[in-house]
Amino acid sequence: MAQPSIFDQILDPANRANPYPLYAELRETPVTRQPDGTYVISTYDEIVALLHDPRVSSDPRCHPELADAPPALEAGLPGLPLTFINLDPPEHDRLRELAMRPFGPPCTPGRVEGMRTWLAEVANELIDDFAGKNRVDLVDDFAYPLPVTAICRLLGVPREDERRFHHWADAIVANLDPTTGTFAERQHRRARVEVELGEYLNGLVEAHARRPGDDLISGMLTDTGPHAPMSRADLVSTAVLLLVAGHETTVNLIANGMLTLLRHPEVLSRLRDEPDLAIPLVEELLRYEPPVQMRTNRSTLADIPIGGTTIPKGSPLALMLAAGDRDPARFPDPDRFDPDRAGNAHLGFGSGIHYCYGAPLARVEAQVALPLLVRRLQNPRLVADPPPYRPNAELRGPRHLLVDFDTV
Ligand code: HEM
Repeated sequence: MAQPSIFDQILDPANRANPYPLYAELRETPVTRQPDGTYVISTYDEIVALLHDPRVSSDPRCHPELADAPPALEAGLPGLPLTFINLDPPEHDRLRELAMRPFGPPCTPGRVEGMRTWLAEVANELIDDFAGKNRVDLVDDFAYPLPVTAICRLLGVPREDERRFHHWADAIVANLDPTTGTFAERQHRRARVEVELGEYLNGLVEAHARRPGDDLISGMLTDTGPHAPMSRADLVSTAVLLLVAGHETTVNLIANGMLTLLRHPEVLSRLRDEPDLAIPLVEELLRYEPPVQMRTNRSTLADIPIGGTTIPKGSPLALMLAAGDRDPARFPDPDRFDPDRAGNAHLGFGSGIHYCYGAPLARVEAQVALPLLVRRLQNPRLVADPPPYRPNAELRGPRHLLVDFDTV
């Protein structure tokens, strides 16, 4: 019988809780061809080289598999054009710059630092709700609501609409799961949700156009800098991108973070006493248990010799960021969780022109959330180890993270 594809192996329940031995096997051959023609790249240097290579495209229209069936979302859903995560230069750079500038720019550490105070308020309110309980699900009761609130506030979504955002983000991420149908089927289902969300966001944009506020959408609408303004369609599309890219990823960082801390009680008690440890600790989490395990939206525009082989022009790529982050050639003792690790140039936020736009925000969310949880939950204990995982090969995190504690 043919060897199952690497994606099937990653999704196999036996590997779900710990895919890292599989990645170690993969690294023995830095570039491998899967039965469906996808080239899987698993070593740090080769991943970084391809992330920086202009002969590698993120545009789904360059993907041969999609030539006859253009993806509903990226390439032509009514009203929703491609976003910069799926565009190459120069369009990528223009749209990314327009999304960056309004806050001068929005997701720089300076702007995001100002969000620390209210993020801590939101996190504390969520923990206040644990009062009277001895068991919570840190995914549903904490990690999930925090990033939705952060993105809603970034975009200027009214508080009463935040729940609807939560629903849309969940539905979109479920459809990213490669086990739930062919690429075209998943894109079609995803498109339905995006239409609803697109309609809502169109209304929000109109409301902000009438009365601009101190939020990203208003900033993009009133921008008068070079290449401005962003078109309404691009603006709505960008808002959807921020929700999709910034939600589940951050949920997973917080949930993977608490799981890792509960498995390393010595680090947990250090964090309780030294909240500043959160800064290097979050970086190490992004390396050790990265929410984004791989990127599969790339294809080659030319033959590319790399890692002892030549990837032919027109090949889809799977860049295994999480395997690169455990590459012993780059990180000494890579399977050790070590918040004091020096030179931690992890791939948790990618690298190159598509490096995560929201990295400063994601960092602050985790740096606020994790110390608060370890300070306020008395004697926290995992109920199930490993916890159940979401069946998604690309984004990895627990579906639930039940934790018992004495009191808050
Ligand atoms: C890009 C990870 C949070 C918005 C990326 C990429 C990674 C990543 C790996 C590179 C994608 C590629 O090369 O194709 C993460 C992780 C997060 C996080 C692990 C949380 C822990 C956020 C947040 C936002 C966001 C909070 C928005 C507020 C974006 C956008 C891009 C991106 C817009 C595309 C950038 C571009 O194409 O130029 N992210 N992200 N992300 N991320 Fe994040």
